[in-house]
Amino acid sequence: GTKLIIDTDPGVDDAFAIALAARSDEVELLGVTTVFGNVSLAATTRNALRVLALCGRDDVPVAAGADRPLVHPQPRRASHIHGHDGLSGRSAALPEPGREPGPGGAVSLLASLISAASEPVTIAPIGPLTNIALLLAVHPELKAGIDRIVIMGGGLGGGNSTAMAEFNIWSDPEAARRVLVEEDVPTVLVPLDLTLRCAVEAGWLAKLGATGPVGAALHALTPDYLEAYRKVLGWDGMAVHDAVAVAEAISPGILRTESFPIDVDCSAGPGRGATLVDRRPPGARGVGEGEVAGARADIAVDTDLDGLRAFLFD
Ligand code: BDR
Ligand code: CA
Repeated sequence: GTKLIIDTDPGVDDAFAIALAARSDEVELLGVTTVFGNVSLAATTRNALRVLALCGRDDVPVAAGADRPLVHPQPRRASHIHGHDGLSGRSAALPEPGREPGPGGAVSLLASLISAASEPVTIAPIGPLTNIALLLAVHPELKAGIDRIVIMGGGLGGGNSTAMAEFNIWSDPEAARRVLVEEDVPTVLVPLDLTLRCAVEAGWLAKLGATGPVGAALHALTPDYLEAYRKVLGWDGMAVHDAVAVAEAISPGILRTESFPIDVDCSAGPGRGATLVDRRPPGARGVGEGEVAGARADIAVDTDLDGLRAFLFD
């Protein structure tokens, strides 16, 4: 199976994504690294440890990474969506972690796991891209050891943090640009447009809650998050953005992707943090000034929605 490292800022949907990988026998979860994002680094790290403890996976190494973006301060956290503790105020539904993160830091853990792996690994960044930008900056020689970077982020038709920008990209646009545009690594981008379509119904969550202790604890995290998403979606459900990206990391091809030219807006204006994707047919694309430059990403554009939800449930 795929060898996977998750880089995360839990986050309710991050918790679902970590549990998905931690409990799957189709994937070897080599490690989890944490980053600031939905809440502070201290809180996201503690939450990652809690989710792994819940899943009986205290064997998976965890290391904490960046506590802020590369260049500008983070504009805002997402505690209005994920609660003050990052888990909808319900972190007590998960076990207290019986351990601390490893001593070396996220970039060191990523580097040592990639170097030690017998085959190229998949990285699934499901928070701001700061740790991954630092990894590629410090260890360019490790790019050959990376099979794919499957990112939850971006929006083709607009954002959620601002009109144009999705939260993970908006939280550190310079880091996102480094990973998606400046570095020559295979990237898959799973944008908001698709993750919102993959949202799950309240009834799906209730059924998940009845499957056993892991399902019950995940379900227990959701009441306030569900409430917040009801307003976004206009129906009784919630987005599990990060779990959609991790599903693709575990099962390549579960999402349909198309390769498009991409750039990230790092200006200070209202487009800051937007993913600029050229979806014109190849013959109609321009070159030169004012056009999206040469970098490309495989962008997830569609999936079998019910098949995907069944995969997450299993
Ligand atoms: C992304 O932002 C975070 O709040 C979620 O965990 C997800 O990674 C969605 O825009
Ligand atoms: Ca996240």
